[in-house]
Amino acid sequence: MKIIDGKGLAEKIKLELKSEVEQIRAENGNIPHLAAVLIGDSPASASYVRNKVRFCEGAGFESTLIKKDESITESELLEIIQDLNENDDINGFIVQLPLPDHIDEHKVTMAIDPKKDVDGFHPTNIGKMVQGLDSFLPATPYGIMTMLERYGIETSGKHCVVVGRSNIVGTPMSILLSRKSNPGNCTVTLTHSRTKDIGEETRRADILIAAIGIPNFVCAGMVKEGAVIIDVGINRVEDDTRKRGYRLVGDVDYDDVSKKASFMTPVPGGVGPMTVTALMMNTLKAAKLKTS
Ligand code: GUN
Repeated sequence: MKIIDGKGLAEKIKLELKSEVEQIRAENGNIPHLAAVLIGDSPASASYVRNKVRFCEGAGFESTLIKKDESITESELLEIIQDLNENDDINGFIVQLPLPDHIDEHKVTMAIDPKKDVDGFHPTNIGKMVQGLDSFLPATPYGIMTMLERYGIETSGKHCVVVGRSNIVGTPMSILLSRKSNPGNCTVTLTHSRTKDIGEETRRADILIAAIGIPNFVCAGMVKEGAVIIDVGINRVEDDTRKRGYRLVGDVDYDDVSKKASFMTPVPGGVGPMTVTALMMNTLKAAKLKTS
């Protein structure tokens, strides 16, 4: 079994991005600038946003973090978004999800200018993606596509099974892998909570994408010998032996499934760093579109 080292690949691409940033800077003095809006005090969201800001620094991007209390009103948040839409210094921005219950995520997503939507969540970008037009791809699926491409994993004609149909991972992943492209050209099955027998579906997968948010959901009995396993889950489970009181586990039981897989992403250090990398690739693209 070969480990798909998302962390290592993210570091490699970070250097590639850095050299492109230096080139753009030398040409016209511009530096790609990402803003992140973080609402509330969820430790997981704070940690994800911290990683995004850190990656910006490492790749030579500028970053701005806008942190607001959970009590912010929906209209106050929409005003922040409007300001970011109009701010010429910001190439792209994200609003970290999930948002507090009193804020309508859909309204927030709709308010983001699609040209600055580097998360690729706006229906304009999703619609373009579905039609194979140039767009910002959602960060996690884009990161996974990049991993498959850079590791030279054959996808054409393969059967891919996606577990989980979220708007930000499962659904776009199923679309990207079924498109006429490379990576792509898969026959895709999208499974979810109402699928009668998920194991029966996953056992047919040449490529299995687990994005269901349940720790260790996929066991060896659900996997075909030689399958490529992409684990999107980042679940915190209690662990008193760790100083911080928890450890991170994926949606796939790593020790069990790694005996059967041909390629597999670890958690942490797999998909997570590639999501951040994809966000940076989108931000660089936004900066280039602005100056072209
Ligand atoms: N929450 C979990 N994943 C993501 C992501 O990729 N982008 C944003 N904005 N929020 C998230």
